[in-house]
Amino acid sequence: MVKDGKGGHVVFPPFVTQKELDAISERFVVRDDDVFVVAYPKSGTTWMEQIVHLLANGGDQGDKVLSEAVPWVEGAANKYGGLDSLLGNATGRRFFHSHLPYALMPGVTDTRARYVYVARNPKDNAVSFYYHSCSKLDYEGSWEEFFELFIRGQVGYGLVLDHVLDWWDGSRKNERILFVKYEDMKREPAEAVSRVASFIGVRCDDELLRTVVDKSSFASMASNELANLDWVPQKEGVPRHMRKGIVGDWREHFSDEQSRRFDALYSQKMRGTGLRFDFGDGLVLPAE
Ligand code: PPS
Repeated sequence: MVKDGKGGHVVFPPFVTQKELDAISERFVVRDDDVFVVAYPKSGTTWMEQIVHLLANGGDQGDKVLSEAVPWVEGAANKYGGLDSLLGNATGRRFFHSHLPYALMPGVTDTRARYVYVARNPKDNAVSFYYHSCSKLDYEGSWEEFFELFIRGQVGYGLVLDHVLDWWDGSRKNERILFVKYEDMKREPAEAVSRVASFIGVRCDDELLRTVVDKSSFASMASNELANLDWVPQKEGVPRHMRKGIVGDWREHFSDEQSRRFDALYSQKMRGTGLRFDFGDGLVLPAE
């Protein structure tokens, strides 16, 4: 558990401790031209990292793996030689990624930096998080057990709906936050790339647009060793990071009872917020 920045506590992955969060809050000096890709885990973070990275580099992948090109803010204690080295080494415009909740994100209320927040329908999010936990976090429980943890917010970064709704509220007050949905990126990738380009101030002609859409497609990223996260150690025999990349996979995993219980929590949290998600096959909730 770490302090959630709102007077309570939130479950975090064990490798992101309070000490690291305190260091981020004290020492992460955000620049006005910084760009942060933010998402609750398994919502499309890597996909958006690839989009902003390609946009910033004229469509070139370069020679760094994506997690070096767009480093992970709260992973700095364990990677990149620590926070000071990460910040000290950065030249030119900086791009970062993070899963931090709104209340813990550096610079969000007091700088002119830009934040691209990606949100995904939480049922697909749960399924993707389950496979991630099995492959990378030594989780050995069943899907049924994982569901109980997920619905109670006892997984890294807490309850998905709280994370998403805090960023959604933030985005409605703050024009430097672009709130993007995974399902919209799937449906209209060119539209999503265009919106991101203009949000971060990158001129994007038709050729760059085509290149970025192509190199950020699921198939391209899955076969790109600089973007597919295959370099991250993981358990054998469990799906890799680029697993399915579809909308509606939850239907293969949720029982009717799990679905009813999740829907009840979802409607209670989402009512009156103006935010809706596409759960695939034309199911958009909350219904208007
Ligand atoms: S992480 O580990 O928290 O950073 O994971 P994250 O990148 O947020 O989410 C991983 C899921 O996103 C899917 N993905 C994509 N879907 C569609 N198109 C593209 N280009 C793409 N890139 C990544 C990835 O497959 C994971 O979803 P699932 O449902 O598990 O396949």
